Amino acid sequence: MKKYLYPDFLVKIINEKLNIYIKDYKTSPEILRKAISYSLKNGGKRFRPVLCLAVAGSLGCRYEDVAPTACAIELIHTYSLIHDDLPSIDNDDLRRGKPTCHKIFGEDIAILAGDALFAEAFNIILKYQQSESEKIIEALAEIGQASGALGMVAGQTVDVFYTGKEITRRKLMCMHKNKTGKLIIAAVRCGAILCNASQGHMNKFTRYAENIGMAFQITDDILDVVSSSEDIGKTAGKDSLQNKNTFPSMFGMEKSRKIAEKKVSEAINIVKSMEINSEWLIKIANFLLLRKS
Ligand code: IPE
Ligand code: IPE
Ligand code: MG
Ligand code: MG
Ligand code: MG
Repeated sequence: MKKYLYPDFLVKIINEKLNIYIKDYKTSPEILRKAISYSLKNGGKRFRPVLCLAVAGSLGCRYEDVAPTACAIELIHTYSLIHDDLPSIDNDDLRRGKPTCHKIFGEDIAILAGDALFAEAFNIILKYQQSESEKIIEALAEIGQASGALGMVAGQTVDVFYTGKEITRRKLMCMHKNKTGKLIIAAVRCGAILCNASQGHMNKFTRYAENIGMAFQITDDILDVVSSSEDIGKTAGKDSLQNKNTFPSMFGMEKSRKIAEKKVSEAINIVKSMEINSEWLIKIANFLLLRKS
């Protein structure tokens, strides 16, 4: 992947801020602290917080003005990965190129580290996000709804419940939208909310995010088939081994690629039609079709 396609300078901002925020847990039990930093600090594309910052930048807002909320979303994402990898869910040994949290710290601590990350996400916003209270409440509501029983957890539930069972196309789309799309949508919308985007902009940002959210999980499904474990930093080929419902299993490879391309091009057209600085939002959308991990 060519470096200029992805905003590494935004990844750097997120990593710096995360390093600051997690210092707040220095008096929590050592093993919990270690499990949290192990999972949070071991790489990752920071796709969701990067998007949140990129939306802020596109509206002429300072990155710092949305960074706490962006980082909070990364904490929730990290919690979702720790729990997704547990033996009772996807039973994965490898994440971000390293042994999964439960492999190092045990299942009990991995569950608890996930629980802590979820709660600490809200604490970060409440402590560090400097915006009008109304805006903060709106952002909290976005994140809560995207993560909960109608959001990421709903999608994960459908994922595990239908593993090895037949699923309709409609249900597969809905599962992907919930398990992955919703948090990506929340990241984009939070950036827009905190930067006082107009309703018109809000609607378009949401459609942009819906398209890239879906494209993100489709390309994740594709990478599981075509990539090596080394490249993706997680066990490749496990979706078909575990009989997971994925885009390639439903539509085949060719069609899955086509659908992802269509979503990306729709996303790009939407931000191009807005009077914003859309440069990075376009690059981030294109990155999805080229990403190797
Ligand atoms: C993986 O997410 C899980 C999905 C929702 C598909 P990422 O591909 O964003 O994982 P990291 O954060 O970069 O490791
Ligand atoms: C996970 O989807 C989505 C989450 C909400 C964590 P996957 O199970 O496909 O994610 P990977 O492939 O393990 O990263
Ligand atoms: Mg999963
Ligand atoms: Mg998984
Ligand atoms: Mg996957």
